[in-house]
This record gives sequence, structure tokens and C-alpha cells, in this order.
Amino acid sequence: MMKKVRCIILTMKVLSRRVLVTGGAGFIGSHLVDLIARQGRQVWIIDNLSTGSPDNLRKAETIKFVKGDVTDQSSVGTVMANVDAVVHLAAVVDHEL
Ligand SMILES: NC(=O)c1ccc[n+]([C@@H]2O[C@H](COP(=O)([O-])OP(=O)(O)OC[C@H]3O[C@@H](n4cnc5c(N)ncnc54)[C@H](O)[C@@H]3O)[C@@H](O)[C@H]2O)c1
Repeated sequence: MMKKVRCIILTMKVLSRRVLVTGGAGFIGSHLVDLIARQGRQVWIIDNLSTGSPDNLRKAETIKFVKGDVTDQSSVGTVMANVDAVVHLAAVVDHEL
């Protein structure tokens, strides 16, 4: 998992200045958002807050939060116009294994 995350981050470093993280207010997403923002990149988040929370996000000018659903074409389209890359983490996670 960490190897994959490092690979994604390396690719984003090379290719992307502005990144959208769907589900960015969730557990994994919020850590990724923090990491990208600390690299001085702009991060957009789209999250419907079904399980995530804005409390997971630190306040920074480079972090732009949009409350919205990834199934809503207009919300996604608006945000997509501002980014070079997308990390899709929005999901309904089933914790029962
Ligand atoms: N946590 C783990 O151990 C783990 C392990 C492997 C894979 N994953 C995967 O990583 C992803 C994120 O997992 P997590 O643990 O951070 O879960 P999480 O529930 O903390 O985060 C998911 C986020 O997606 C948001 N969301 C859900 N449906 C949405 C929708 N329709 N539109 C917009 N936002 C929506 C939620 O509000 C939440 O903030 C999932 O795809 C999960 O399957 C997680």
C-alpha cells in the first residue's frame, strides 16, 4: 500500500501542480491532501461528508474544499476544470471484513 502511495505521489510531483482528491475529507484522503499541500501544490477536494469531516483538514490557502458528490456531474465538472490530476478515494467503505 505505502509503495503504491509513494508511486502516486512521485507521479504527481512530476506531472501535477494542481490535484483533486475525491473523498479528501476521509481518513486516507485527508492525509494525502496534507502531504500534497505541504509540497506547495494546490489541492482541490470534493467530498459529500457522508463519513468524512472538514475537521480532518487543516486550513491552508492551497487547500480548496468543495462539498459535493462524485456522482453529481456538475460539481465534478467544475472542480475538474481547475486540476491536472485526480486521486479518486471517495467511496463507501465497508468496515466489516
Ligand atoms: N482505510 C483503509 O485501511 C483502506 C485500505 C485499502 C483501501 N482503502 C480505500 O481507500 C479509499 C478511502 O478509504 P478511507 O479509509 O479513507 O475511507 P473514509 O470513509 O474515511 O473516506 C472516504 C471519503 O469519501 C467520501 N465519500 C463517500 N462517498 C462519496 C461520494 N459519493 N462523493 C463524494 N465523497 C464521498 C466520504 O465522506 C469520506 O470522506 C476507499 O476507496 C477504500 O476502499 C482504504
